[in-house]
Amino acid sequence: MNKQNEIKVTFQPSGRSVFALPGTLLLEAAGRAGVALQTPCGGRGTCGKCRVRIVSGECPPSAADLQALSAEQVQQGYRLACRTYIVGPLTVEIPAESLFGGAQQILTSHAGRSAVLNPVIRKTYFHLDPPSRDSAVSDVERLKSVIGEVTIPFHLLQKLAGFLRGQNWQGTAVLAGKRLIGLEAGDTSATAYGVAFDLGTTTVVGTLFDLVSGQEKAVASTMNPQVSFGDDVISRISRIRENDGALAQLQQSALTAIRSVIQKLGEQASVDTRHIYEVAIAGNSTMQQLLCGLDSSALGEVPFVQAFSSALTISAQTLGLPVNPGGEVYIFPQIGGFVGGDTVAGMLASGLDKTGEATLLVDIGTNGEIVLAHNGRMQATSAAAGPAFEGARIVQGMRATAGAIEKVILGEDVILNVIGNARPVGLCGTALIDAAAELLRKGLIDETGRILSADEAPDGISPALRARLIEINGQVNFLLVAAEVSGSGEPVYLWQKDVRELQLATGAIRAGINILLRRAGLEPADLGSVLLAGAFGNFIRRNNARRIGLLPQIACRRIHFVGNAASLGAQLALLSADERELASQLGRTTEHVDLSLDPEFQMEFGMAMMFPENDVDACNDVR
Ligand code: FES
Repeated sequence: MNKQNEIKVTFQPSGRSVFALPGTLLLEAAGRAGVALQTPCGGRGTCGKCRVRIVSGECPPSAADLQALSAEQVQQGYRLACRTYIVGPLTVEIPAESLFGGAQQILTSHAGRSAVLNPVIRKTYFHLDPPSRDSAVSDVERLKSVIGEVTIPFHLLQKLAGFLRGQNWQGTAVLAGKRLIGLEAGDTSATAYGVAFDLGTTTVVGTLFDLVSGQEKAVASTMNPQVSFGDDVISRISRIRENDGALAQLQQSALTAIRSVIQKLGEQASVDTRHIYEVAIAGNSTMQQLLCGLDSSALGEVPFVQAFSSALTISAQTLGLPVNPGGEVYIFPQIGGFVGGDTVAGMLASGLDKTGEATLLVDIGTNGEIVLAHNGRMQATSAAAGPAFEGARIVQGMRATAGAIEKVILGEDVILNVIGNARPVGLCGTALIDAAAELLRKGLIDETGRILSADEAPDGISPALRARLIEINGQVNFLLVAAEVSGSGEPVYLWQKDVRELQLATGAIRAGINILLRRAGLEPADLGSVLLAGAFGNFIRRNNARRIGLLPQIACRRIHFVGNAASLGAQLALLSADERELASQLGRTTEHVDLSLDPEFQMEFGMAMMFPENDVDACNDVR
């Protein structure tokens, strides 16, 4: 992305930075940095919960700041993120209490507090009494009498006698739960690191943690090289079904990405990667299985069957990872079909098991994952939305990079926001949703998804908008950008065909939501909260997603962004044995609902493709 015209915003204490266009809301920039803030008032500037402190940079207080915050707080640099527009470079401190739900827990430990810090990996320095006439117990018993009951693998048992005598009966035991995974000379108990991975279909993100202090040390990412085998999981599964050697190739590509991120993290934080003892990985079913080299062919046929469900612990050496030789890899449990470890991690991070009200967790992507928590019961499903939200199969669609229209507002005429302050060349997923929602509000698309002609447009429509309804080859399309002002010299349209693709994607996700609600005996209005997770979910505008029917008709203030919940969940599992246990429990107890086996799916899907006639309210989404 061209960052020339963009402004750098750095968030503390994580140190994460993003580049944002002038005029971007600080709340939105925080979301892009993976910092999910509380927004109980839906960004109206009245609750004061999204409060952050400006450490440096120009940021005059808004009227809402002066209303919601005390004069002293304003003086100290506090601002409401939902009402602060970025005008220059900023360094912003995020108070722990402003963070949303699960994020708060994990970032508490980032800040060095040990409330949740209870990693599976522990180190214990020991100093044993040497054998004597009075005490001639075995070496194993002697060690256990000091470090507690542990299981000792045979290769360490083979080394134990020599190690104890050679090190004068002192050393550091490295433990994974109640298993001994290493013996180190001297006292190394203050040095232990771990990496949490969000293994995505497109990107791989790793976060390095100091397991002793719980502090985040570095974040690094890379593209998943498996994209050369196909953009989505289905094409990669097809590859292994059709080619004998493809499974090994796909596994090696994912491992290459993981290895390179580990190396980058070590370099960034000046940490010797031999001091990394654990790697926790959350990914969708296909990604997790391919990483482990497990045949995933059964995910390519109905019913979709996973290779495993309980969490896996694998030796890092088996996978050839550049970490401590005794290091281990934890792979998240899976729920069923395409509902994999990233969903379990997202449930963990968003505290779905603790919510007292009916709550829906939605991760919108090529494969949308949906979980409904109600009265202690969890149901999860996945819906094949296809790549429309990523700009694919959209005539002038593109990923969210420079030149992509990312926001569309219709007033008397069209107002656009373009990424990178460049001339527009196409539209990304958020703009697709915005454009359809705005056209629905203006009555320029009917509920079947048909774009009306200029003659059919309602009476009150401005001449400028009416002139944008242009018929090409018998279909009406909506002109977003004229050729003279576009970046490509070509006009940019919302094509009728694009609206159909959007309806297919929306219909799949919404049908999944409706089926889960029906199975729980709930109506959309019964939902207390909808939590939006994942990269795309963090950028969509709630009111527009709701207007097109992608989200149920509930007030915006009940729809929350929870950031990259899969990554946060992986971090929690790395830093806390209790959280890991909870992940296992969530994996075991969540019911998997396979939409392909639901007799009513086709009917629900057909109905969900229709746009809602009206919107529940006209709340202004802050984003
Ligand atoms: S004041 Fe409520 S979200 Fe900002």
